[in-house]
Amino acid sequence: MFDLQTMRDQLAAHYDLAPNPALAQEMSETYATMQRVITPMDWAIHAPYVAAINALKKERNAVILAHNYMTPEIYHGVADVVGDSLQLAIEATRVEADVIVQCGVHFMAETSKILSPDKIVLIPDLEAGCSLAESITAEGIAEMRRRYPGAPVVTYVNTTAEVKAASDICCTSSNAAQIVSAMESDTVIMTPDQYLAQNVAKDVPQKNVVWWEGSCIVHEQYSAKDLREFREWNPGTRLIAHPECPPDVVAEADFSGSTSGIIKYVTEEKPEKALLITECSMASNISDSLPEVDFVGPCNMCPYMKMISLEKILWSLHTMSEPVEVDPAVAAGARQAVQKMIDLSQKLGI
Ligand code: 13P
Ligand code: SF4
Repeated sequence: MFDLQTMRDQLAAHYDLAPNPALAQEMSETYATMQRVITPMDWAIHAPYVAAINALKKERNAVILAHNYMTPEIYHGVADVVGDSLQLAIEATRVEADVIVQCGVHFMAETSKILSPDKIVLIPDLEAGCSLAESITAEGIAEMRRRYPGAPVVTYVNTTAEVKAASDICCTSSNAAQIVSAMESDTVIMTPDQYLAQNVAKDVPQKNVVWWEGSCIVHEQYSAKDLREFREWNPGTRLIAHPECPPDVVAEADFSGSTSGIIKYVTEEKPEKALLITECSMASNISDSLPEVDFVGPCNMCPYMKMISLEKILWSLHTMSEPVEVDPAVAAGARQAVQKMIDLSQKLGI
C-alpha cells in the first residue's frame, strides 16, 4: 500500500516539482501532442514530473513500456514504447536497456519479466491488478482440462504467470481468433474472458470454443441497448468496441479490435465522429493526432490502469521499486506459452 504523503515529501526533497509554466513553455513540443485534452494549467503541473522522469530514465538506463490505456501525460510525455498487450510483450523481448518500467497493470509487468528475466522490471504500483487476471487460478485451468479432456487451453495474457504456465498457449485481443483457429483440436478451451471467447467463437465457427466465466469490469458495463440508443440519438457516429465487450455489444459496433487495432482503424478511417467503447484514455491519447475526428463519450475508466501516475513513475525510478519477480520454474512454463503465441503471431503475420 502506498504512503502517498511520504512519497510526496521524499520526492519534493530531491526534485523541483512545483508547477512550472516556464518549463511547460519550454516543453511545448511535447505538449502539442496532448493539448486538446490537457489544459495549459495541468501541463504546467505535469511538466516538472515529465522532465524529471525523462532525465532519471537516462541515468538508470531504463525504458518505459506503456499500455494504450495510460493517461496522455504518461503516453506522450514519458513512454518510450506504447502499444497493446501483444506489442508490449514483443517489445519486452527486444529491450536493450537494463531496466523496464511497465506502465500498465501487473500481468503486463509479469509478462515482461517472463520474457526478459535478466532485466529489472519495475511496476509503479504493485496493486494495479485486473479483474480478468483475478478471475482464475492454475486450479481453474486444471478444472477446464478435466471437463474437456484433450482440448488445448488458449489463455488470454490478462492472467498470472501460474495460469499461463498451466496453459498450452497464450493469446491477446489482437490474435485470439487466429490462435484458436490454428489449434488442431475441434474443441478449444479459452480462459479467462468469457466475452472474448464468445466473440472468437463467432469468428471461428469451425471450432467448438468453450470458456471460463471471467470478465473485464470496464467492458462488461456496456450494453447493446446503450449502443442502439446512442446511435439513434447521434446518427453518423462510428461505434468501435474492444472484443472484451459482450458479443451483442460487438455486434452493434461498426468495428471491433484490440486497443492498437482501434487506433489503426480510427487513424485510417478518420470518421467525423467516433465513440470508442473501451477505456477512457484511448480517445484522449489519439485526439491530438486526429483533429478531424470528434471523439464523443461515454467511456469507462479502468481503476487498475489509473493507479499508475507520473508521481508513482518518478518514485519507481527514484527508489527502483517495485521490482517484479517470478519464480523461475513458473516463469519457464509461462514463457513457453507466451513465446508460442509470439512465434505463431509472427508466422501468421499479425
Ligand atoms: P489490448 O491487448 O487490446 O491492449 O487489451 C488489453 C486490455 O487489458 C484491455 O482491457
Ligand atoms: Fe483488466 Fe479490464 Fe482493466 Fe484491461 S481494462 S486491465 S481487462 S480490468
